[in-house]
Amino acid sequence: MSSYSIKKTPGDTDWFRHDRFGMFIHFGLYALPARHEWIKSYECIPEEKYNLYFENFNPDLFDARDWARQAKAAGMKYAVLTTKHHEGFCLFDSQYTDYKSTNTPFKRDIVREYVDAFRAEGLKIGFYYSLIDWHHPSFPIDRFHPRRNDPDAEMQDEGRDMHIYAAYMRDQVRELLTNYGKIDILWFDFSYDAPPAGDPNGKPWMRNGGGKGKEQWEAEALIALARELQPGIIIDNRADLEQDLWTPEQWQPTEWIKHEKTGEFVTWEACQTFSGSWGYFRDEMSWKSPEMLLHLLIDTVSCGGNLLMNVGPTGRGNFDSRAQKALNVFEDWMRYHGRSIYGCTMAEPEFKAPAGTKLTQSEDGKRLYIHLETYPFDSLAMENLADKMKYAQFLHDASEILWEKDGNRVIFKLPAVKPDVLVPVIEVIL
Ligand code: GLC
Repeated sequence: MSSYSIKKTPGDTDWFRHDRFGMFIHFGLYALPARHEWIKSYECIPEEKYNLYFENFNPDLFDARDWARQAKAAGMKYAVLTTKHHEGFCLFDSQYTDYKSTNTPFKRDIVREYVDAFRAEGLKIGFYYSLIDWHHPSFPIDRFHPRRNDPDAEMQDEGRDMHIYAAYMRDQVRELLTNYGKIDILWFDFSYDAPPAGDPNGKPWMRNGGGKGKEQWEAEALIALARELQPGIIIDNRADLEQDLWTPEQWQPTEWIKHEKTGEFVTWEACQTFSGSWGYFRDEMSWKSPEMLLHLLIDTVSCGGNLLMNVGPTGRGNFDSRAQKALNVFEDWMRYHGRSIYGCTMAEPEFKAPAGTKLTQSEDGKRLYIHLETYPFDSLAMENLADKMKYAQFLHDASEILWEKDGNRVIFKLPAVKPDVLVPVIEVIL
């Protein structure tokens, strides 16, 4: 058994740490401008103008079963969909707002179709829910709000009542956690401090200096409600209250994340994008290479974490060719290498990864996986292994890898030609 003890979580995270790999889906009106999901805030777009996206929202190629099949083929075991992002638009038929997919030309409850399709493929279901809301009339104008620079912003802010908005969130979370069966993950996003003095986005009249956190969200009540409706649900930490999940975003931890106070290992999930933004961004050129995509997954598991890999569907509702190619990279590799990912974690500390490699180890401790991120010439030496190992093979084809002992060091003999997989893995039977 793995010797690591992990901080206990209020929700059921055992399946989660086993499954390791999920799909994040950012879909909303921002797929239409196709230049970042924050566009309403970045460009301070007025409501009337943003409304054009609502009036033209009609993702005719949307097929949740196709999304689910692609996620499953890529080796993902769960998914998290934006039921509402910061723009405030809801992908579900909420009775508490008109600003929802069922009132667009598309008319459909996208959350319902997502849940049905992903569940049918055997994937676990996650809901992302934005705490931030740039459409709700009661949401006080803060440092990120699209109206922050309006000449009459302070006047517009008067009378906005955060309690009304917090109650709205509870109503919607109740809908989401009541109307769609068992929900495995609730992903709140996000809390922020007041900006530093002198930041032009912070104004003297803004409440809490322009930031929002657990008090404003009434996070205790919100989370208590979620736990009452869905005991066992996994909740992230972004409502500014410690829950189950630590969520490093667009950066890769190089070691297992530890609790700030107790030093215990925590349950964590890195979230990453194919190309920088989360929503569909037509002109973005920063698509990650196939190797980098695989390294993100391998490096994450080698540090005891999960990876949530994001797709931003187009305004037609499908994954574009670049996203499909990226998913195919995972599909091709995971078909043969799932064994070094699922049910695996950081290798025991006695094992040190040779240069250019990353290690994972099965939870039962019986198999060690050496991921050859840089393919070595002729042989690979690893210390402190000779007395512990029985056998070695490539994972993708179960072909024996010959090895020699040199004291407690093992020297694996490798073929001169790198096998035809992006990251070959040596499976060591201990
Ligand atoms: C953020 C961003 C956002 C994205 C998310 C994913 O903080 O505001 O657009 O949804 O994180 O982690």
